[in-house]
Amino acid sequence: MTVSLYDRLGGYDALAMFAAQVVEKAQRHDELARFWVNRNEDSNARDLQSLIDFLVNASGGQMYYRGRDMALAHKGMGITAADWESFVGVIVNVAGETGVGETEGKEVMSFLDSLKDDIVAA
Ligand code: HEM
Repeated sequence: MTVSLYDRLGGYDALAMFAAQVVEKAQRHDELARFWVNRNEDSNARDLQSLIDFLVNASGGQMYYRGRDMALAHKGMGITAADWESFVGVIVNVAGETGVGETEGKEVMSFLDSLKDDIVAA
């Protein structure tokens, strides 16, 4: 039986912690902070839960993702390729801190690659 990426990453609590740390660091990042200017706490809390649901769903956990698809959710934000690199840098950093394994890290990176064209503005 193959074990899902979700289980190998440590299940719900591990993914929720991971997502919270990525968002927190992105919001404090010099280049990325501008995307969260003037958003209220409730919007940020909802977005974080959306991100957790999305990641649980995409990695093979039991969660129904009710948010928008990645193209619609990021449309008009003007996310550049450099922003994308910064965001990936944050993710790699958190993955290192939380001890994500090499195989799992590669799977996460290829999943992120598959989203890039939808998220980065053309
Ligand atoms: C440079 C990269 C990124 C930036 C600056 C960014 C920024 C944002 C912001 C500001 C929102 C709130 C949108 C709104 O409601 O107005 C959002 C939503 C969201 N983002 Fe990102 N994002 C980035 C990359 C990603 C990646 C890589 C993922 C997935 C792994 C992701 C998943 C989501 C999800 C699930 C939502 C919520 C959509 C919904 O609830 O409908 N984002 N993002």
